[in-house]
Amino acid sequence: MAEKEIVLSGIRATGNLHLGNYYGALSKFVRMQDDYDCLYFVADLHALTTNPDPDKLHENVRNIVAEYLAAGLDPEKSTLFVQSDVPEISEMYLLLNMHVGIGELMRTASFKDKARKQLGIKSDSENIESQIIGSDSNKRVNAGLLTYPTLMAVDILIQKANKVPVGKDQEQHLELTRRFARRFNSFYGVDLFPEPENFNFGGNAVKVPGLDGSGKMGKSEGNCIYLIDDEKTLRKKVMRAVTDEGPKTPGQPVSQPVENLFTLLELTSTPEIVKHYRDAYADCSIRYGDLKKQLAEDILKVTLPIRERILDLQGDDAAISKALRIGAEKARERASKTLAEVRHTMGIRKF
Ligand code: TYM
Repeated sequence: MAEKEIVLSGIRATGNLHLGNYYGALSKFVRMQDDYDCLYFVADLHALTTNPDPDKLHENVRNIVAEYLAAGLDPEKSTLFVQSDVPEISEMYLLLNMHVGIGELMRTASFKDKARKQLGIKSDSENIESQIIGSDSNKRVNAGLLTYPTLMAVDILIQKANKVPVGKDQEQHLELTRRFARRFNSFYGVDLFPEPENFNFGGNAVKVPGLDGSGKMGKSEGNCIYLIDDEKTLRKKVMRAVTDEGPKTPGQPVSQPVENLFTLLELTSTPEIVKHYRDAYADCSIRYGDLKKQLAEDILKVTLPIRERILDLQGDDAAISKALRIGAEKARERASKTLAEVRHTMGIRKF
């Protein structure tokens, strides 16, 4: 029997999971479990790049594991673990950094974005490089944030993963991972790492929009629908979503905030319902209130059963720690093999 391809992905422990995490990542994790050799983890080391409260970090790790299980990840089928339970990752992160350029890290979009936040810079146009190097010690961008893509590449390469299901916002990090893999292989003349790719069941990478008319649903944007939201909260959020004054002439182009609602509807509803509202927009008969009610209904069908299971699992530390213990062992076993190869390749050898 041919060996199954290796799938690996993770989510940072920075808060509850929202629809962006679900459609961009978690729902794919669940669907891939039967056909691939899957490893899924909670990225607690990555969460440290924004200096979280220690108790909160611990709680977030537990919540994400509960959310993984509640959404349908099965520890019998997939390897589930917490990133910091695999110390081999931290060692390989140090080793791989020797082949990563500061410039290429500084140019990544997510670094620029988060560095701006750490420095308290609002505008896109300001030159952040000089401020990063600047001498004001109260305003610093931590080195962990810069090397975030190295750590992510190591998560992937240490398991020799072929497929990495992630949302659109992570594609630049995947591109870097491929570059680092190629660079390592060619520098040492080895064939150690495969080049991983995003996976979307043949479709395009997913970008779930926010409810505030902006581009992306994100934890720090305050525009999220969470899997854990109760019915009332969720309905209220959807009903308050930003729209516009409505189409005035047939066939008028759709504004960004309304297109966002259609995108959410496409993710959660049937093609017939989507067509109904698209047609209603095109002939100017649409009522956004109806669209929103429908959208809330369809989102609730997805999230409410998951919410119930999350609430059950959050108090079940035994189930969580059992899944993680078995997962960490499996993940470590494979990671330590790769690390041994990397050490040997780089010349760190025993006498
Ligand atoms: P994080 O926690 O930011 O996001 C977790 C996953 O959710 C996806 N996602 C979205 N997808 C579509 N639309 C959105 N609005 C949206 N918001 C979030 C992200 O694309 C991601 O797939 N760096 C990763 C964590 C990580 C990782 C890895 C992933 C660390 N090491 C190795 C894969 C492999 C991240 O930012 O997660």
